[in-house]
Amino acid sequence: MSHPPHAVHVRAPGKINIALRVGSPRPDGYHPLATVFQAVSLYEDVVAEPAPDISVTVTGRHAAQVPTDRSNLAWRAAKLLADATGTDTGVRLHVTKGVPTAGGMGGGSADAAATLLACDLLWGTGLAREELGELAAELGADVPFALTGHTAVGVGRGDVLTPALARGRFAWVLALSDRGLSTPSVFRAWDALHPDPVPSPVLDPDLMSALVAADPRTLARHLVNDLQQAALELRPDLGDVLEVMAGTPALGTIVSGSGPTVAALASGPGDAARIAEAVTAAEVASEVLVVTGPVQGARLLEHVRGDDD
Ligand code: C5P
Repeated sequence: MSHPPHAVHVRAPGKINIALRVGSPRPDGYHPLATVFQAVSLYEDVVAEPAPDISVTVTGRHAAQVPTDRSNLAWRAAKLLADATGTDTGVRLHVTKGVPTAGGMGGGSADAAATLLACDLLWGTGLAREELGELAAELGADVPFALTGHTAVGVGRGDVLTPALARGRFAWVLALSDRGLSTPSVFRAWDALHPDPVPSPVLDPDLMSALVAADPRTLARHLVNDLQQAALELRPDLGDVLEVMAGTPALGTIVSGSGPTVAALASGPGDAARIAEAVTAAEVASEVLVVTGPVQGARLLEHVRGDDD
């Protein structure tokens, strides 16, 4: 990639929720979560260059669906960092999307995390990772995880993270949809399905053992997503994807986060290719990808310094 005289290039990953347990909404409207995030090898790339104002352009997967105005999470991340650090210059942000838009994989959150890191380097504001994490949580519940990556347990709104011990690499097959699902509408559908109070969510300790054991077969038995039924109510066609995957060597299947991306866990790369082939042949997804996890969080790929730096 060719860069202008001064540019910072940061890459941040998308995620899958291996387990996502949900409780009744808190007074602030957010639902308490207990979740295990895993960062996977699908990325958002953000290139930041000096500019008088903050602006965003977007290319890549589903780019046409992404707003480039002040509602864009990358725009909001740059503005938040500028305000928090008293920075009065701007930035030109270019986002190249690899993570599906409104796909339940934290693509917008990855943009925000990458932008925080890129602008911190471009502007020389020098925040500690912990301080970036605090700003990340203000931008959205999934943003802190896009900064840290790997595998982590999230509680609170999903933003209070503890690294999880996970060994090995897992192969996932993703069935994408070209129509996104809005996260708030999936949580509202969950509310409608749960008129009575649901106790605070907890994670099954056996799931944590399966991650340490690096055993996809055991892990597959613990895939759980409390939002899955709500996502299926809004998008019954996702049932077809799950059904097709069930007829493949997939060890387990799950809707990713609030959907509509559906993930299948494979025993390894060979089975992943076979699952992907079957899902592609069944024509139930707009795109089928094989990814691996865990991968690292937001990281600097290149920092080109201008003559005046
Ligand atoms: O934090 P973020 O902006 O990503 O969340 C988007 C929306 O998803 C929230 O406004 C809320 O409606 C819903 N949400 C929730 N509980 C969570 C996380 C998100 O209800 N823990």
